[in-house]
Amino acid sequence: MAHPPSISFGPLELPRSGTLVVFAGKDLELGDAARRVDEAASGLIKAAADAQAFTGKRFSTLTIPLPRGLAVRALVVIGLGDGAFDEAERVKLGGAVLAALPAGADKTLTVFADAPDGPMDAGSAADVALGAVLRSYTFDKYKTKGENGGGEPANVIIATADPAAAEAAFAPRRAVADGTIIARDLVNEPANTLGPVEFAAEAAKLGELGVKVTILDVPALEALEMRALLGVAQGSERPARVAIMEWDGGSPGAAPVALVGKGVVFDTGGISIKPAASMEDMKGDMAGAAAVVGTMHAVASRKAKANVVGVIGLVENMPDGKAQRPGDIVTSKSGQTIEIINTDAEGRLVLADLLTHTIREFKPTVVIDLATLTGAIIVALGHHNAGMYTDDDDTAAALTAAGLATGDHVWRMPLGKEYDSLIDSKFADMKNTGGRWGGSITAAQFLKRFAEDSRWVHLDVAGTAMNAPTNEISRTFGSGFGVRLLDRYIADNFEGGAA
Ligand code: BES
Ligand code: MN
Ligand code: ZN
Repeated sequence: MAHPPSISFGPLELPRSGTLVVFAGKDLELGDAARRVDEAASGLIKAAADAQAFTGKRFSTLTIPLPRGLAVRALVVIGLGDGAFDEAERVKLGGAVLAALPAGADKTLTVFADAPDGPMDAGSAADVALGAVLRSYTFDKYKTKGENGGGEPANVIIATADPAAAEAAFAPRRAVADGTIIARDLVNEPANTLGPVEFAAEAAKLGELGVKVTILDVPALEALEMRALLGVAQGSERPARVAIMEWDGGSPGAAPVALVGKGVVFDTGGISIKPAASMEDMKGDMAGAAAVVGTMHAVASRKAKANVVGVIGLVENMPDGKAQRPGDIVTSKSGQTIEIINTDAEGRLVLADLLTHTIREFKPTVVIDLATLTGAIIVALGHHNAGMYTDDDDTAAALTAAGLATGDHVWRMPLGKEYDSLIDSKFADMKNTGGRWGGSITAAQFLKRFAEDSRWVHLDVAGTAMNAPTNEISRTFGSGFGVRLLDRYIADNFEGGAA
């Protein structure tokens, strides 16, 4: 984790150093606190806004250095624009706040959590703080020269009517931010330093938070008959691992929410090798597993009142004399046989055995898998929605709502028997590719054959969890997609009273 800002909460008092941030609505509407600042500075906000043609458009900024009448080094006005300002927008606003920090030695930012329609409540102020933390994340551990990422961490003080309440509201958000940053770190880390064994060691660190972590090595996976997963790993010098993470914060014995993650630490394609262009991005082919680890961190760190189990399959897909071939037929843990058509359709082979194991071992109330599964989902949805597959309308609605609230958007995709028939094989129960069209859908149909009778959701995060465009709160290759989504889904659907 690089340069996280220190976050604190204080009263709405004029600071005497650093940078002061205030918000303005469209047409430069000011709330009470911002108006007091403007008065102390003898109308400087209006004058500077006129001079700079600043009108308060959403997330636009007006920076006024050495504002007369104030003791700060800079006054920054950030536009709120017009239209609804929901939770996801407040978090982005926090990102815009951090981005407005002027270069220089004094990295203290005081943010007046106050808008034209009144002071922000504690939760809203904490949303802004969350956005600032997410925005500050950089991945510069391998930069040996220069200032990449800003050296000293920023010191962000959120000034609000009730600092104690805002601080309390920030605690669970801090847990989710930390989980998101863990996921980003894992996705950004190259595969030479993050193989299956090293990834499993990162998962094991959750033990410090009271998560029970079990690491399965190759003999254990052989004993569990996870031959589809092991077939993917057999071309690599680095042995496979499966990590199982259990957080029991809910009623003893209550069926858990299960999260299953694709953790291909590097995907060359295997014998069906990928072209060279952008192959380096395939260090991120473990982003589903990273999101599971990040979510487990979040729920454990905020002591969620729910039972959650995370299961991740960690393998490397390499071409080699021992690698699996097209035409090979493997018997999955479920007993179903799979003809390998393309060794680059490896993620579904890993997930198949994980689903069987998770469903039989934990009897979850719902099982959600996350995987950078197909390029086809990027063709379908671009980088702004993950593909969501499920037969359960209520779960689809709950996840859609969690996505809209957090900004981790999901879009439901279809399942159907016509698609399913595309993966029938001449030689085995099924084949691991379904042809050219609807590639993300046929991948989902493949997984569905391992969902048995459980409530199951598949999230294809190939376009969202890695290499997604930067935005107000995500600046690196790894976005951490899925952590905030799943944490919210758990909080809103499994922590109510009963637990
Ligand atoms: N890891 C890739 C999918 C991927 C592609 C993730 C681009 C992120 C960005 C996956 O293992 C894969 O190679 N899928 C193939 C499936 C095909 C061989 C049926 C694909 O999408 O081309
Ligand atoms: Mn692949
Ligand atoms: Zn892959």
